[in-house]
Amino acid sequence: MLKIAVMVSGGGTNLQAIIDAIADGRIHDTVIVRVISNKKDAYALERAKKAGIDAVSVTRDEYKDREDFDRALLGALDEAEPDLVVLAGFLVVLSPEIIRKYAGRIINIHPSLIPSFCGEGYYGLRVHEEALKRGVKVTGATVHFVDEGCDTGPIIMQKAVYVEPGDTPEILQKRVMEQAEWKILPETIEDIAQGRIKTARQ
Ligand code: GRF
Repeated sequence: MLKIAVMVSGGGTNLQAIIDAIADGRIHDTVIVRVISNKKDAYALERAKKAGIDAVSVTRDEYKDREDFDRALLGALDEAEPDLVVLAGFLVVLSPEIIRKYAGRIINIHPSLIPSFCGEGYYGLRVHEEALKRGVKVTGATVHFVDEGCDTGPIIMQKAVYVEPGDTPEILQKRVMEQAEWKILPETIEDIAQGRIKTARQ
């Protein structure tokens, strides 16, 4: 049984895609053991609770400094004893200590075809604004292993999505989520659960 912890910051639609894929059998031998949010009001926490999943929030303003916050995040992960950590719309840069401790078994979903439109400051709607500004005809999403860089770890899976005439950043974001993110993140987790993709733990 693959135990996964999902880290979130916002709406949790990627978390929901994982929950739904486990429920309808597209993901086997996998259980979400904890959802961790850095925002108390993240709707992702509601999604977790509705699905009966342990959900905790670890917010920066509860701690006197960044070190204590990072220590609390690590503690929330360690308590759940996950085999795999999934960053699903998680907007906090993980500390080097967390990256080291979970090296090779942290994956992230990014809403572009890395190495385009990624790195410092490229998250959420900004990614799609830049893609439209550059005039790309194809964009998409990427699942990659997380290393100490920003969106720099080994690429695991990608899925392309066409940009359509008249797209706004919001329309493009929705299409990339529906046609790419919500498909390749569950597919990657299933591949890891079935041993088709090796992580440091297996
Ligand atoms: C999505 O665009 C995702 O690609 C990015 O964060 C955004 C929100 O995701 N990583 P979610 O709805 O919270 O899963």
